[in-house]
Amino acid sequence: GMQAVGKLMKVFITRRVPPEGMKILSAAGACEVSQWDSDEPVPRTELLKGVQGAHGLLCLLSDKIDAEVLDAAGPNLKVISTMSVGFDHMALDEIKKRGIRVGYTPDVLTDATAELTVALLLATARRLPEGVEEVKNGGWSSWTPLWLCGYGLSGSTVGVIGLGRIGMAIAQRLMPFGVKRLLYSGRTAKAHAAEVNGEFVPLDTLVSESDFIVVSCSLTPETQGLCDKAFFSKMKNTAVFVNSSRGAVVNQEDLYQALTSGQIAAAGLDVTTPEPLPTDHPLLTLKNCVVLPHIGSATYSTRGIMSALAARNLLGGLQGTDMPSELTF
Ligand code: NDP
Ligand code: DGY
Repeated sequence: GMQAVGKLMKVFITRRVPPEGMKILSAAGACEVSQWDSDEPVPRTELLKGVQGAHGLLCLLSDKIDAEVLDAAGPNLKVISTMSVGFDHMALDEIKKRGIRVGYTPDVLTDATAELTVALLLATARRLPEGVEEVKNGGWSSWTPLWLCGYGLSGSTVGVIGLGRIGMAIAQRLMPFGVKRLLYSGRTAKAHAAEVNGEFVPLDTLVSESDFIVVSCSLTPETQGLCDKAFFSKMKNTAVFVNSSRGAVVNQEDLYQALTSGQIAAAGLDVTTPEPLPTDHPLLTLKNCVVLPHIGSATYSTRGIMSALAARNLLGGLQGTDMPSELTF
């Protein structure tokens, strides 16, 4: 059961989370929950205080879980459950050293994130935010042959960097638009790529041949800064770049240069560094850059399911039983 030598298991939750997860935790009983009960991220000092003596930690991608946090928690800590599929915010080497289990939320957010990425790609390629703005500011004078023209998917080549769960779901949604070739790159070729006629190619080939590049890989030391000056300089001048993975995969200074020099046509970003992106950031002055506030998984239903899965992962870790989605590392 949930008892640690007759005492309640202590859990710290770093944010207000959807009620689905909270209900599961209270229904399980016997775990004493303390929470940073706010929609704003927990300040570092409060995180370090809150985790003290905790057996379980339920966190978000905005919480940096490093040696300092683990040391502050102390030897009770058995499980960390993150309400995200990405785990680049956690120092896995330090976590492993201490024998702590990790839960995360793959699959349940794949459809929502793929859908948002397609929306961002279309919004960027067809200049939707610019168009909306022109309607409001009186810039719409008449139907004009070359005004607000963009790029279409029909007959195009799409390159997906990281054909994982989300990359694959993006590819499946893009193919019906009439995509001619679907290229992908990564560490290994994927059997599931056959479903979208995906061609496994070297990154350089993907970059130079694609009309649309979609980044959907995880952030690792290998992918950090992958999209840099050299990368953008190989892209077609007419190509559109979209990132819904993690901001740090992109060198934003290099992206800014590529967008202002005409090296590439446009960029759509759901993720940035830092988050939030400061409102005076140079990228936000560009008409050909569409920036969203990291809303890939943001449907009511998906966030509720993520919260429930994070709660179940936490309980499994506390009880020393199976976790529905345990990260193996
Ligand atoms: P997966 O693990 O299924 O996919 C990640 C893919 O990244 C794998 O296919 C892997 O391919 C690939 N990859 C790893 N290293 C490289 C590399 N060096 N070059 C190219 N590809 C690489 O994860 P998900 O699809 O579920 O999620 C992917 C990421 O999306 C998450 O890690 C998260 O950061 C982000 N995300 C963003 C959201 C948002 O709101 N914008 C929502 C959800 C997720 P291989 O095995 O060949 O290395
Ligand atoms: C994740 O889960 O990693 C996303 O970035 C947010 O859902």
